[in-house]
Amino acid sequence: MNDVGIGLIGTGFMGRCHALAFGAVKAVFGDVPTPRLEFLCDPNEEVARRRAEEFGFARATTNWRELIDDSAVEIVSITAPNGVHREMAVAALEAGKHVWCEKPMAPNLDDGRAMAAAARDAGTKTLLGYNYVRNPAILHAKKLIDEGAIGRVVDFRGQIDEDYMADAEAPWTWRCGKAKGGLGVLGDNTCHLVSLAHFLVGDIARLSATTETVHRRRPRADTPSESGVVENEDIAHGILEFAGGATGVIGSSRIAWGRKNLIRIEVHGAKGMIAFDQERMNELELYTAEGDAAARGFRRILSGPEHPPYGRFCPAPGHQIGFNDLKVIEAAHLLDAIVTDATPWPSFEDGLKIEAVIHAMAASAKRGEWVQVT
Ligand SMILES: NC(=O)c1ccc[n+]([C@@H]2O[C@H](COP(=O)([O-])OP(=O)(O)OC[C@H]3O[C@@H](n4cnc5c(N)ncnc54)[C@H](O)[C@@H]3O)[C@@H](O)[C@H]2O)c1
Repeated sequence: MNDVGIGLIGTGFMGRCHALAFGAVKAVFGDVPTPRLEFLCDPNEEVARRRAEEFGFARATTNWRELIDDSAVEIVSITAPNGVHREMAVAALEAGKHVWCEKPMAPNLDDGRAMAAAARDAGTKTLLGYNYVRNPAILHAKKLIDEGAIGRVVDFRGQIDEDYMADAEAPWTWRCGKAKGGLGVLGDNTCHLVSLAHFLVGDIARLSATTETVHRRRPRADTPSESGVVENEDIAHGILEFAGGATGVIGSSRIAWGRKNLIRIEVHGAKGMIAFDQERMNELELYTAEGDAAARGFRRILSGPEHPPYGRFCPAPGHQIGFNDLKVIEAAHLLDAIVTDATPWPSFEDGLKIEAVIHAMAASAKRGEWVQVT
């Protein structure tokens, strides 16, 4: 397989990231098929035309079904709002395409189940956009954990905070409504934390959660004198029990002033601990309870070529990779899975487990009780 045809739906924040990733992946990784940027879709004709030119796509359309039905398109990237993921993903899978879909899967769990079922039936490759698990520092953390560097994992701590909705006057967007957005911070942010927890520790089995909507109405962007009801949560916290026996605590907020993309995790083991913060995404902290107690302390490991696939980007350690590079690694992960017939992580099947956790958190908060996830 020398090349592969790409169809991109959505040209906003994530649409640009996917376009950049497909544009760079061959130059960075070399041993992957060359993406052919075939077709791009945005509902606005002028935007679609302009973005196709900027991103380097051959053709543009306002009708995503036309893109999915196009025989030159082999991978469909879905970067439209959550509320349309299901119909786009199911249609793409039914047309025999591979699908790279942004997270979360959909506004409700039934939609997620339908997407996973369609993926099973299609037998093509699916990948959800959980970019943070592709960070070389996180891949190294997983290697250390699997090799027993911190012993049996006993506890997980996670915090994900941003301030994009901290201003009470920030306008109402599709993210605030159940129809297009679904869950609030749970679907936008907490799911990333859950992806890291599942990747590093294993599946979450049982949990208790609280949620809060602090800013209950927001001005409409087009008519600021009118306001819209915020239908989902600003803050969500949870206490976790993992299937493997570990415990955990996670906290998340989209209204945390000053936090731009804080994703802080700690994996506590019986013999040591690993800590990571996405705002310093090229660093991993490792503590091992070994040697002279007086000389112990956290070691700061700076990402370098020893931490694959960092070396694909840069031969020199400490020069640092960035957020968009995680999307390039994701694209390579998907292309590699297509070529070698492997299962990417997280596929729709794995993503459904992540989705089940965030919906269990919403249910627990509503009912005020512990909820079984699996
Ligand atoms: N992985 C991450 O770190 C990350 C970060 C941000 C957003 N996301 C996810 O990416 C998705 C998009 O978020 P965003 O921030 O890019 O949103 P955005 O609003 O910036 O962009 C959405 C795009 O979808 C297009 N669109 C809307 N309806 C459409 C339709 N019916 N057909 C075709 N295109 C349509 C819009 O015109 C726009 O180009 C969401 O699922 C979101 O949760 C993931």
